Amino acid sequence: MTKNRSKNFDIKVDKLTEKQAVKELTELAELIAHHDLLYEEARPEITDAEYDELRRRNEEIEARFPHLIRSDSPSKRVGYIPPSGFKKVRHSVPMLSLTFVYTFEKVSDFIDDIRHFIIDLKDTSVQFDFVAEPKIDGVSCSLRYENHRLIQAATRGDGQVGEDVTANAMTIDDIPKILPPDSPNLIEMRGEVYMTDDDFIQLNKQQERSGERNFANPRNAAAGSLRQLDAKITASRPLRFFAYAWGEVSHPFAKTQWEARDCLVSWGFKLNEPSCLVRNLDEIKGYYEEVESKRSRLGFSIDGVVYKVNRLDLQERLGFKNRSPRWAIAHKFSPEKAQTHIKSISISVGRMGTLTPIAELEPVNVGGVLVSRATLHNQDEIERKDFRVGDLIIVQRAGDVIPQVVSVIIDKRSPDAEPFEFPARCPSCNSKAVRQLGEADWICTASLKCPAQSLERLIHFASRNAFDIEGLAEQNIKTFFNEGLLKSPADIFHLEEKLAPPDIFNLTGRKNKEFLPLQEREGWGPVSANKLFEAIRKRKKISLDRFIYALGINQVGEATAKLLARSYSSLTEFRKKIDAAQNHKSKEYEHLKNINGIGPIVADKIVTFFADPHNISVLNDIISQVEVTDFEVSHTQTSQLTGKTIVFTGTLEKITRSEAKAKAESLGAIVVGDVSGKTDYVIAGQSAGSKAKKAKDLAIPVLTEAEWFKMIEKTSR
Ligand code: IVH
Repeated sequence: MTKNRSKNFDIKVDKLTEKQAVKELTELAELIAHHDLLYEEARPEITDAEYDELRRRNEEIEARFPHLIRSDSPSKRVGYIPPSGFKKVRHSVPMLSLTFVYTFEKVSDFIDDIRHFIIDLKDTSVQFDFVAEPKIDGVSCSLRYENHRLIQAATRGDGQVGEDVTANAMTIDDIPKILPPDSPNLIEMRGEVYMTDDDFIQLNKQQERSGERNFANPRNAAAGSLRQLDAKITASRPLRFFAYAWGEVSHPFAKTQWEARDCLVSWGFKLNEPSCLVRNLDEIKGYYEEVESKRSRLGFSIDGVVYKVNRLDLQERLGFKNRSPRWAIAHKFSPEKAQTHIKSISISVGRMGTLTPIAELEPVNVGGVLVSRATLHNQDEIERKDFRVGDLIIVQRAGDVIPQVVSVIIDKRSPDAEPFEFPARCPSCNSKAVRQLGEADWICTASLKCPAQSLERLIHFASRNAFDIEGLAEQNIKTFFNEGLLKSPADIFHLEEKLAPPDIFNLTGRKNKEFLPLQEREGWGPVSANKLFEAIRKRKKISLDRFIYALGINQVGEATAKLLARSYSSLTEFRKKIDAAQNHKSKEYEHLKNINGIGPIVADKIVTFFADPHNISVLNDIISQVEVTDFEVSHTQTSQLTGKTIVFTGTLEKITRSEAKAKAESLGAIVVGDVSGKTDYVIAGQSAGSKAKKAKDLAIPVLTEAEWFKMIEKTSR
């Protein structure tokens, strides 16, 4: 366990300083991207609740500091960025996610928010209903039908771009290959590929018989089975499909979600059941409790229920916020819990020297998964919850994610259990550890002199989102590191000459006696050794953003690396400008600091990294081995309003201010509160006062509500 799996945020959002907000938003972007990837690979490390908490915290901070929103904030995308292997598919309508809640109170807030958003629903005597259905725990998939034929299937990916799994989807019986003539000419069906509990058990038995690894749960099994490069393997797996939504469609085919469900059934799709129309919180409660009580008898895994506004015209108007619709919500069941003992508390050292306490547990089965370790986050968390070695504790898992230690059962504590004393020295190198004022983590001060940190940085360098060297697994890196074969990242590119069989290199005059050739080592052979060498050679060309991320600069996660790459385009330019930015008074420093989403704290980390001669020598060694390609800008959709700054003032009659703002933002506008020289348009409703006047003085166009509607009508496709 090496990565900070989840985080505790001790400071209330309304108490955060701007500096702290920048730091947290950066950390959150990195952390969320990390967990998105793990989730997509069906090996999540944190609970859904923890994940949601990260997302929520990110959104709350962004709401308070809108000017600090990173251009690639996690709130602007869903899930992870797909790796290569499958062809990429851009979804014509993004595939979104659902906001999760755990309580009826939060469901009630969800309903209130809708009433506040849609002007006609403000009056609580006006009724509207919801479709309630189970939230199936599988892998979401989009099926594109043109002229009634299935022509493409894609996974969700990051919500914008997924992976082409057409050949795999074709093997799933529940997925109709042809739709009847009364279906729309073009429709993208959205739904979930899943596995029933019985099929999952059978599959695992089969896996065992053939000496293969077991799947942890049906979701992982479904994900692993769908994402097979060889569709024959997918065909051999018992996958099923439930439809529950749609993306692009050539013409409207229903007025309500409920009617739409009937259409889907008549076209041959299977739907999540039991479903129901519910009108208020009481009915919602009734449905939730009924489904929860039936949960174990459904035959497939669900992790909650979903409520969707029934009227499709309202769905359309409610639209989306960040990554999720405003018209639907997932209401999750409470996490599964179990009791066990803490055998010991160990400390893991991260690549930046962060010391994370880990509870080593007496293995216990929690909802079908054997749990033996869980993070305790940091010293404060241990003290707050008073975790001690020997304690009987409660662990929980929500869905299929890594466990969390919830609390101690104090009555069962042995009288001689001692409070845990956080070590003041690094367990790897015995150097002094420090904890800065206001920080939650203890940090080992030895930097790259600490073997654990050097090793973690090597692991980071080769990892999936950095250099992505296939076959160079953590364990191999450790072995090579311990042997002295790998000390710094550039050494990876010398592995072949050091580990290839000597005769090849004898021909070119090089001798290799120092190390045992890779193919002669246990677990390796000529094929796997060559595969690794080839994987390394393949990465001798790398894009600038990945390269920057791979350097492992403190606070520079994937998202920040992309911002930097986008801003500087080439490595030469980046280095030149960062060199100049060493001077805090330079315009280069000013530029760096002002990149949307970077700010002074991260800017300083970057500058500090490049001021260290050791880092520069590591960097030069790497670039003597690899070619770093310029950053390619992706073309996103733009509209007439993209980037325009607008102000709403006065009372709007047809829609609420929230709906107006959301609509403007969905068209790419930036909505601000005050009129200034930078404002492009002011939309003035009834009794608009000083703002409209100020706009006139500044010669900024002022539109009436009606004129505004005309403008957005033209702008929306
Ligand atoms: S509706 C705009 N209905 O849960 C999104 N989703 O975390 C509309 N899911 O990505 C989704 N059961 O993969 C919907 N009955 C259901 C669902 C469901 C499972 C999945 C879906 C979605 C994820 C949200």
